[in-house]
Amino acid sequence: MAPIDLPDPGTHGSTSVERAIATRASRRSFARTPLELADVAQLLWAAQGLTHVRDGVEMRTAPSAGATYPLVAFLEVAPDGCAALEAGLYRYDPRKHRLEFEREGPIHDDLTEAALGQDVVRAAPATVVLAADADRTRRQYPDHGDRYVHMEAGHAAQNVLLVCASRELHGCPVGAFDDADLSAALGLPERLEALYLLPCGRPPADR
Ligand SMILES: Cc1cc2nc3c(=O)[nH]c(=O)nc-3n(C[C@H](O)[C@H](O)[C@H](O)COP(=O)(O)O)c2cc1C
Repeated sequence: MAPIDLPDPGTHGSTSVERAIATRASRRSFARTPLELADVAQLLWAAQGLTHVRDGVEMRTAPSAGATYPLVAFLEVAPDGCAALEAGLYRYDPRKHRLEFEREGPIHDDLTEAALGQDVVRAAPATVVLAADADRTRRQYPDHGDRYVHMEAGHAAQNVLLVCASRELHGCPVGAFDDADLSAALGLPERLEALYLLPCGRPPADR
């Protein structure tokens, strides 16, 4: 399957950062309407997109200890979850700002079960999955690498949730899952550990 180019991310939204902070909340219900590719592009860019180059290193939207950049963002798309995307698991390529198929075919039921059957995951048209290759950071920081990676996941997750707030999308951080079941559901390479789920979608019409 060919990679999917994403629309350029916006950097001049009409919502102030203060407004996004003030209106962010964990919202766990979603419309059945599919997400637009522009929404997906903005969410993934907020998680791990590129911003600028410093000393030859491509810097990202979320800070990283020693610019080691251990995080990898994935997008799980439920059946009919995004108008432009088939159901399955995609890997976000920050450098090319595009999606690559990681796993074809729906994994939505398995992902929901791995998240202990939580309705917020079941109902979401798409879920941003933050995973990490922690060795990248541990090599540079043997004593504190694990801690730093978890801190970074928090930074990236908050970016995603603030974009949800600014675009009037619903979203919720999900950290309650079974590690082994999640690993099996996603089928990621062994060096990557899934750390955080961020189910996102449009608000239900009757809210
Ligand atoms: C690390 C972490 C893990 C969380 N895991 C879950 C979860 O598995 N399921 C869920 O519904 N909410 C989860 N939440 C959301 C919290 O319940 C929510 O942030 C808290 O109730 C405060 O509400 P607010 O986010 O609306 O301010 C998690 C939040 C954090 C920070």
